[in-house]
Amino acid sequence: MRRRVIAGNWKMYKTLAETRAFFSAFTPLVANSRHCDIIIAPPFTAISTAAEAAKGTNIAISGQNVSWSKEGAFTGEVSAPMLTEAGCRYVIIGHSERRQLFRETDDNVAKKTLVALDSGLTPIVCLGEMQEDRDAGLAEEVLLRQFTGGPGALTPDEFSRILIAYEPVWAIGTGRTATPEIAATAHRFLRRCAGEQFSVHHASALRILYGGSVKPDNIQGLMAQEELDGALVGGASLDPKSFAAIVNFK
Ligand code: PGA
Repeated sequence: MRRRVIAGNWKMYKTLAETRAFFSAFTPLVANSRHCDIIIAPPFTAISTAAEAAKGTNIAISGQNVSWSKEGAFTGEVSAPMLTEAGCRYVIIGHSERRQLFRETDDNVAKKTLVALDSGLTPIVCLGEMQEDRDAGLAEEVLLRQFTGGPGALTPDEFSRILIAYEPVWAIGTGRTATPEIAATAHRFLRRCAGEQFSVHHASALRILYGGSVKPDNIQGLMAQEELDGALVGGASLDPKSFAAIVNFK
């Protein structure tokens, strides 16, 4: 049985004071939630504050992005060892906003994944098709290309240490969630890619999160699909009550 993961991606929201306030309200609401891994990805500036607030709790901290270099003259970048030192155990890589707005490629994703693994972080590698891909019947082709260029380029051992998030771009921040069936079909396809590239064992151990307008009122339907191993939540992770309701979906 794959253990479920509920991860919150705060994107470019929350000051330090707001981060502290979130944790004070959220931590007690999930203190007894043992059925899944709980992750929060604050912006870089709030990572240490979040890690401090999460100390001794069942909440792990994640970065939202990482440099593909360990150090160097890369103005504005943050490295994997820096994230680890600040208290991260995970890092989101290749989020669609990074791919679309900051031109990240599958090759960037592959390099970032390697550097994250090397620093002991668990990468949450995001992939997903755009609306026009889906409309043109190209969703699987796009997923296969992103899988092959990113996670598929890892060694089997490296691959066994990552999580994948399927995030159809048309469902992110739009209020349009993929139906549980659409999500499950995409997850099954990605699992098949993992099986073909690596092994049946790797495929069945892989945890794939769904992301895109996950809310307290649709989490149950999504989690009823056994193909879905959890959720990557944007907007609804900003409010402690709403994110706790998603974590406590059962
Ligand atoms: P959303 O974002 O839940 O606000 O749609 C999901 C994500 O971008 O990870």
